[in-house]
Amino acid sequence: MMKYIEVLDQNGLKAMKISEQEAPKNTDFEVKIAVYAAGVNRADVLQRLGNYPPPEGISSILGLEVAGEIVAIGCQVQGFKKGDRVMALLPGGGYAQFVVVDYRLLMPIPKHLDYIQAAGIPEVFLTAYQTLFNLARLRPKEQVLIHAGASGVGTAAIQLANIWGAQVSVTVGSDEKARFCQKLGADKAYNYKTQSWSTLLLEHTAGQGADVILDCVGGDYLSKNIDCAALDGRIILIAYMSNAWANEINLGKILQKRLTFKGSTLRSRSLAYKSDLIHSFNRHYKVALVAKELKPIIDWVLPWELADQAHQRMIQNLNKGKIILTIS
Ligand SMILES: NC(=O)c1ccc[n+]([C@@H]2O[C@H](COP(=O)([O-])OP(=O)(O)OC[C@H]3O[C@@H](n4cnc5c(N)ncnc54)[C@H](OP(=O)(O)O)[C@@H]3O)[C@@H](O)[C@H]2O)c1
Repeated sequence: MMKYIEVLDQNGLKAMKISEQEAPKNTDFEVKIAVYAAGVNRADVLQRLGNYPPPEGISSILGLEVAGEIVAIGCQVQGFKKGDRVMALLPGGGYAQFVVVDYRLLMPIPKHLDYIQAAGIPEVFLTAYQTLFNLARLRPKEQVLIHAGASGVGTAAIQLANIWGAQVSVTVGSDEKARFCQKLGADKAYNYKTQSWSTLLLEHTAGQGADVILDCVGGDYLSKNIDCAALDGRIILIAYMSNAWANEINLGKILQKRLTFKGSTLRSRSLAYKSDLIHSFNRHYKVALVAKELKPIIDWVLPWELADQAHQRMIQNLNKGKIILTIS
């Protein structure tokens, strides 16, 4: 048996409580992990509210990333053994004492990181990595604009782009978050509540604009993204926190600037894609992670009994970086 967080429908409210069910059993290609820490993601909040159902066949338990210890291992698993400290990218199931996952979605935890720090890595660093490099083909010295710079994904993207030698600008919802992102490595940070970020970015780049834009806001950001995108710019949409609908798009600018617009969700990608992504991330950034140049930004750590408080902090846009639940 294992404990896990169950989402209950109580008078229209989605309450969370710790319940018990059978622990999952690993298959030949899977390991079973005793989970010690789980990262909280915006997607968990959406799934809890019924707005982001898990892909077919995936555990309905919340949680897209965990860190823990391997306690059982399938006969086809390569490169890992019982007792290894690992972090895992999951399609679901992380808010639980045990989770099973294909070994190709594991990463060993670098020695200097504890389980709490490690649980803040897989989902946001792999999302930021695939967006900047697989999808946008970011090149060194290019200008990148990262919306929601202080989010989990944003804090990962700032560091990855910085180490790669790109020029980083971000948008955020407060001056405090702006200072925080600049300390983390952003050259420019615009408070979208008080500043016209697309105009200021064009001024900052002497009219050239951003080569790559990482957007999780959507809505009216699309037309502003197009306004401040550079020639041959790539705009990548990974969520639409403000609005799924955008209007007033000037198609002429897309043509004249030869823009590319892509959307993507990591969760629904194939095992092969995610496994390749992890390999590629390790090839390019493992050294930086081990050398502590790349680090998970932890906002708040709390026991999983208080998962609702973690979600409330995220809903109120208060976190800077990752919120982590400790699992006992
Ligand atoms: N497609 C994918 O594969 C994928 C994978 C992972 C995450 N994501 C998405 O990436 C985004 C970041 O995820 P996360 O877990 O890192 O989020 P997070 O830590 O919860 O941060 C999200 C931040 O976005 C900003 N925000 C919220 N609503 C906004 C709005 N209407 N307009 C402008 N800014 C707004 C807030 O910061 P401010 O105070 O600065 O406004 C908020 O703190 C989420 O939308 C998530 O769903 C997508």
